[in-house]
Amino acid sequence: MTALSYPAQARAWPADADAAVPYWVYSDPAIYQAELQKIWYGPHWLYVGLECEIPDVGDWKTTTLGERPVVMVRSAENEISVVENRCAHRGVKFCQSRFGHSEELVCPYHQWSYALNGDLQGVPFRRGVRRQGGMPADFDLGANGLSKLRVEAVNGVVWATFSADTPSFREYLGERFWKHYTRVYDGRKLQVLGYNRQHIPGNWKLMQENIKDPYHAGLLHVFFATFGLFRADQKSAVDMDDTGRHGILISRKGEQQANDVTGDMRNFQGDLALADPRILDVVQEFPGEETVGMITVFPSVILQQQVNSLTTRQIVPKGPGAFDFHWTHWCYADDTPEMRLRRTRQANMFGPAGFVSADDGEVIEMTQQGASGSPEANMILQMGGRDIMPTDHQVTETAVRGMYRYWREVMGL
Ligand SMILES: [Fe+2]
Repeated sequence: MTALSYPAQARAWPADADAAVPYWVYSDPAIYQAELQKIWYGPHWLYVGLECEIPDVGDWKTTTLGERPVVMVRSAENEISVVENRCAHRGVKFCQSRFGHSEELVCPYHQWSYALNGDLQGVPFRRGVRRQGGMPADFDLGANGLSKLRVEAVNGVVWATFSADTPSFREYLGERFWKHYTRVYDGRKLQVLGYNRQHIPGNWKLMQENIKDPYHAGLLHVFFATFGLFRADQKSAVDMDDTGRHGILISRKGEQQANDVTGDMRNFQGDLALADPRILDVVQEFPGEETVGMITVFPSVILQQQVNSLTTRQIVPKGPGAFDFHWTHWCYADDTPEMRLRRTRQANMFGPAGFVSADDGEVIEMTQQGASGSPEANMILQMGGRDIMPTDHQVTETAVRGMYRYWREVMGL
């Protein structure tokens, strides 16, 4: 592990272990390097994409896991491979486009060629030219392919891990979260509606925290508070897996109606009206009475079900102080045209300029600005008590505490 960049005493964890987290977790370069090794390249499943993005053999999509570029490729009819986008020869990131289709993967530098599953199949001038040069006689093609990740495609979503120690994806989620996951990813075919991308100048964990924090939802977001899509006076719950790393915020939609609770919300606007109210045309489609299920799968993705808007939000860390955020809005392949349009309209609440999500991008940036100058100060994480357990309300930071307890364990802090 890289040497720590702050003096050791600055690294002592606060006495109130679960309910206080020091701000150096957002800014220390050595901590960030350790996170890449222990979390992103460690025994965790990372979101790569949707199966439907690469329907035919030879289709590929590029993305980044941690800081490592990868290619997700349909390598056979029923096989998806994820390989590092780094030529085994000299390290070239050989695929530069976001999407493509090819018979094989070829590096432009010296034209080393790989089968779609990453096996090395051709090295130009391997036997030399006119008896000069060439690779050593014992050079083994079989031992010099692309770096291959373990892959699981689970009900339309492709997951990969760099580690041999990661348990199966279902075990990684745990049984309760397997139920949460399959509520929306139930085996029906998915289809992409569109993409958004943004760069947020804040630590990657702030995005995980944001979707483990129902406390802010009805306070920060004028849209949520006013139109009652996600607010503290509604029937809600927070669940997490046994490790604390995954979380879900569950809620049932309310109305634009003042009550004893909305009085505490500066952002509640009783007289605000939408010029086009069709964005609030919500249809109950999943089992149960919940209209919101926001899952954080640690560390790489948020699986959003906000009313009828379905989205994966991939986190791509870019150093300690920033991350890229890749939104994929999707629908079921068998949706009616009306439902597609409804999901597309509701997607306007999310993404970089969404009526709701623009607020989150901004406060994450503002948190990084406020916190990074004082690495030794601590945040206060006492809302809902100091313990870590599932709750049946929104007025809590329990899932944020759960994530940091797990994070400390993995990081050995
Ligand atoms: Fe938010």
